[in-house]
Amino acid sequence: MTSRNLNLWWAMSAWFALSVTAAMAQSVDVSVTIHADQPGPVINPNVYGQFAEHLGAGIYEGVWVGEKSGIPNTHGYRNDVVAALKALKVPVVRWPGGCFADEYHWRDGIGPREKRPVKVNTHWGGVPETNEFGTHEFMAFAELIGTKVYISANVGSGSPQETADWMEYMTSDTVSTLANERRKNGRDKPWDVHFFGIGNETWGCGGNMRPEFYADLFRQYATYVKAPRGKRPKIVASGGHDEGTRWVEVLTTMVRRDMDAISHHYYTTPTGVWEKKGNSLGFPESEWISTLANTLKVDDYISRNEKVLDQNDPQGKVSFFVDEWGTWYAPEPGREPGFLWQHNSLRDALVAALNFHVFHNHAKRVQMANIAQMVNVLQAMILTDGPRMTLTPTYHAFQMYIPFQGATQLAAEVQAPQYTLDAVNVPAVSVTAARDTSGKLQLGLVNLDPKREAVVSTTVTGAEVSAASGRVLTAKTMDAHNTMDAPEAVKPAAISSKKSGGKLVLRLPPKSVTVVELR
Ligand code: AHR
Repeated sequence: MTSRNLNLWWAMSAWFALSVTAAMAQSVDVSVTIHADQPGPVINPNVYGQFAEHLGAGIYEGVWVGEKSGIPNTHGYRNDVVAALKALKVPVVRWPGGCFADEYHWRDGIGPREKRPVKVNTHWGGVPETNEFGTHEFMAFAELIGTKVYISANVGSGSPQETADWMEYMTSDTVSTLANERRKNGRDKPWDVHFFGIGNETWGCGGNMRPEFYADLFRQYATYVKAPRGKRPKIVASGGHDEGTRWVEVLTTMVRRDMDAISHHYYTTPTGVWEKKGNSLGFPESEWISTLANTLKVDDYISRNEKVLDQNDPQGKVSFFVDEWGTWYAPEPGREPGFLWQHNSLRDALVAALNFHVFHNHAKRVQMANIAQMVNVLQAMILTDGPRMTLTPTYHAFQMYIPFQGATQLAAEVQAPQYTLDAVNVPAVSVTAARDTSGKLQLGLVNLDPKREAVVSTTVTGAEVSAASGRVLTAKTMDAHNTMDAPEAVKPAAISSKKSGGKLVLRLPPKSVTVVELR
């Protein structure tokens, strides 16, 4: 190459590099119209529910350390975790599993703790289960954080009698032997059981059943779930998973009474391949977009099941509960794979917010959702390490969306380009809107594009709006996360905007979650 050619080559390369950088830095224009005059259904607060299983450090260490622990606690519950959960306004917690529930015998978890049998947690790491945390401990924990309870009964290896006895033990105000046993164990007043699940994943760890077989079992078990008048829990049938609709088809055809809801599970992996899920940190952009695209599939999965429900239950008596959802990554090197411990990054916060938007869009049928899981397991709100604790980006997303609990969903029209990488496309921006319980307009926005800012022009019909203020969650890198040593690496910051030139414009940073109140 001559020196003249070389100069030309350098100049062209520099021009190319500049154009690529400029293209990358470009913002995307989005327009949003909120119809405040077109109220939709109420968003059940329970879609912000949690799931806590006897799995890894989910209960022991994560919630319960015992009264003698050096970790600051109140009657055995760690103070830091309880305070963080109270601030999250957790509406409902599902317990004790999961697959653990499919082998759980409630009598193992009552009476003097030192006398409780030690079992093996066969599903999760084969570790000893001391049963120190049982019915009384769970119910007292629920009262401590002020949440409703969703108990999962053992259908996999239990019996209708065992299930009926558990209900009587918890809810009876009579002088029955079981109610008196509860009193002897320290609880005079019966508890309210708000939701009662008949089995868990009965297609898998809950018994490997066919839906037809389970439908009969559901009928049998539900017959014996008795509670005092006015205290009957909502009864939840164990349903299917992913794109499947067969469990809803069979259950809504074969079960005619007692079924208040059908549960459904969907986990998000970056690759969509169960055996090679993808890592929680250090992933390429291709796994950023594929994770978001995979999580958005839940919209279609719910729609398919809604279609069946609308056909077989036109009066809308049976709700759809997505009672396990969230990210599931490859096991963390150096950790017991059966404990399902994983890092939680900014990507998880976007996954959470996108799921909230989908649940809001299906607010009529989707009356509950429980993220898996509350502490130290899968897409956790909180990670602990001995006496230390850190809040995850997912925690912040849940906290930012508190105003949507019980809010009335509003129609929102969004015109946004696609964010595309290789052959994967997702909308660049996702939006949800609602009128909260105090009458204020709330807007939730996710900018899925990790490189481009979104400039969102917002119009509201049916309400006069001149300003927006709230919080935004973002970070420099796609896998930014909090650690015990840097617990505030990812945390919400203030964001606001005022109408100018007749326009209310919100500038969403790349890869961000925003919730603002419109005034
Ligand atoms: O959340 C972890 C496990 O995932 C649950 O125990 C089970 O129900 C599901 O397969």
